[in-house]
Amino acid sequence: MPPTATLAADPDGIARAADLLAKGELVAFPTETVYGLGGDARSDLAVARIYQAKGRPSFNPLIVHLPDLAAVERVATLGPHARDLAGAFWPGPLTLVLPLRDDAGISPLVTAGLPTVAIRIPAHPLARALLQAFGGPVAAPSANPSGRISPTRADHVIDGLQGRISAVLDGGPCAVGLESTIVLADPDPTLLRPGGVPVEAIEACLGHPLAIGGDGVKPTSPGQLASHYAPNAALRLNATSAAPGEVLVGFGPVKGALTLSDSGDLVEAAARLFHALREADQMAGPAGRIAFAPIPETGLGRAINDRLRRAAAPKDMP
Ligand code: TXA
Ligand code: MG
Repeated sequence: MPPTATLAADPDGIARAADLLAKGELVAFPTETVYGLGGDARSDLAVARIYQAKGRPSFNPLIVHLPDLAAVERVATLGPHARDLAGAFWPGPLTLVLPLRDDAGISPLVTAGLPTVAIRIPAHPLARALLQAFGGPVAAPSANPSGRISPTRADHVIDGLQGRISAVLDGGPCAVGLESTIVLADPDPTLLRPGGVPVEAIEACLGHPLAIGGDGVKPTSPGQLASHYAPNAALRLNATSAAPGEVLVGFGPVKGALTLSDSGDLVEAAARLFHALREADQMAGPAGRIAFAPIPETGLGRAINDRLRRAAAPKDMP
């Protein structure tokens, strides 16, 4: 395959990206959470190429990205909780798991044969422009090789997938920096993955607590694999100072070699997390170790800690 093209965030770049998707090719594109590895969700071949490019264990369902609610209703059925959550958080960093319509036309490879489909309406203007220009559903996992750190910049995508995808649409750094929150909406709203919308905001919208689910699919789903997001260096959490040979990533009062947020701001910390993991990994070197300052378990801190615990877990990737 030829080298991966970097497309500019302009009408020509968007048109070229949409054209590649229409040909069944793969294009990485920015969303407000992380960069997605997009392919036509109606095409078995395009979806198979996504799994191949990521080296992802197969049969893990993907998120379908759509431009608006009308498009969502052509693919899935929205129950009462789904409607409330969609009204409050779409477009935005929320994914809803919804019953799949019989006439949805989505490749069964996207849903791994499940009767449900995970759907998201992203808020990023480039993602929205691409979805409008393409005019169809785009299946997109995070644009990283399976088991590696999710990309929040176009050069992260190139680092991992150079030559394995046709293009990346360069929208600069992602504002949220953590993947979407995944909620199974109806009948009983259940959290499947903490993410860019804080759980507290979802509970406030629903007026009652969320049940906590596993991933709801299979124990081997990528978001559930313990070592997902793994850097090469070993990771120690809740560190208040660096042990010899460790690169400390600070937060708030804990000062490190680099920091997630000097002022202790969880939104800033989320946006910097995956880039900081990469930077710390490079600074630590092959035999190095990384330590992370404690992050409060509230708001986006919950999703940050979820990713850090996975990154710190023993590597269990195939
Ligand atoms: O922010 C995000 O969500 C990014 C951007 C690109 O949109 N995407 C992303 O996709 O993180 P991915 O493939 O890395 O994570 C998708 C998660 C998986 O853990 C999968 O198990 C879950 O969504 N999922 C997909 N379909 C599902 C379904 N029908 N039921 C339950 N979980 C599902
Ligand atoms: Mg991922």
